[in-house]
Amino acid sequence: MAIPIPVLTIDGPSGAGKGTVSRIVAKELGWHYLDSGSIYRSLAIALSQKEADLANVDQILSIAQAMDLAYECDDELIVKLNGEDITAQLGTETTGNVASIVAAIPEVRQVLLQKQKDFKKPPGLVADGRDMGTVVFPDADFKVFLTASAAKRAERRYKQLMEKGIDVNIHQITSEIESRDCRDKERLTAPLAQAEDALFIDSSAMTIDAVIAQVLSLVPQRLVRQ
Ligand code: DC
Repeated sequence: MAIPIPVLTIDGPSGAGKGTVSRIVAKELGWHYLDSGSIYRSLAIALSQKEADLANVDQILSIAQAMDLAYECDDELIVKLNGEDITAQLGTETTGNVASIVAAIPEVRQVLLQKQKDFKKPPGLVADGRDMGTVVFPDADFKVFLTASAAKRAERRYKQLMEKGIDVNIHQITSEIESRDCRDKERLTAPLAQAEDALFIDSSAMTIDAVIAQVLSLVPQRLVRQ
């Protein structure tokens, strides 16, 4: 009999700390890590490279189908699209916004579904995104919905960008976060939503270490790779 592969899903809006928490939790557990947002972001980059028309669903689908994505997880996640390292372009606001726009197209989600499921390999998987616990891995053993107030998320993003020397306006960041939240929650297919069986964590007033400890407490020690 095949040994079941444990899956821990962490869903939530952008800027809630999912990426940082998931990466550290995956490392602590010795499990694989899926940053599903990076798949939608890679598609956004592929579309911009091909100067695709965002209103042309057939063109978007054929570019999505042809994407060859390779992940190398060292200390940082390195993503290669058709052999080219695109890691530096993944985090920009434009990439995130285009990703969110094309993520609302049901056929696009269907094409990218299997690419995400393929990450489930022994000894286990930590998957972060918007629909990990509801659509991609509905049978996941452990589920978390991680959120924070929009003001707190904007403040964190603002600090991150300022530290990188990127001069930004906090009001613009807040309004971009709010409109992305709205698009991700309101779309008809696989909207951002809390799975019924997910543990709700509001990280607004928590340290990252406290969030990590709470998430790790869900997983029994026997499943942790020694
Ligand atoms: O998590 P992120 O900010 O990297 O995601 C970028 C966009 O991709 C997000 O605004 C919506 C989309 N996305 C999605 O629709 N479903 C996922 N599981 C992950 C991301």
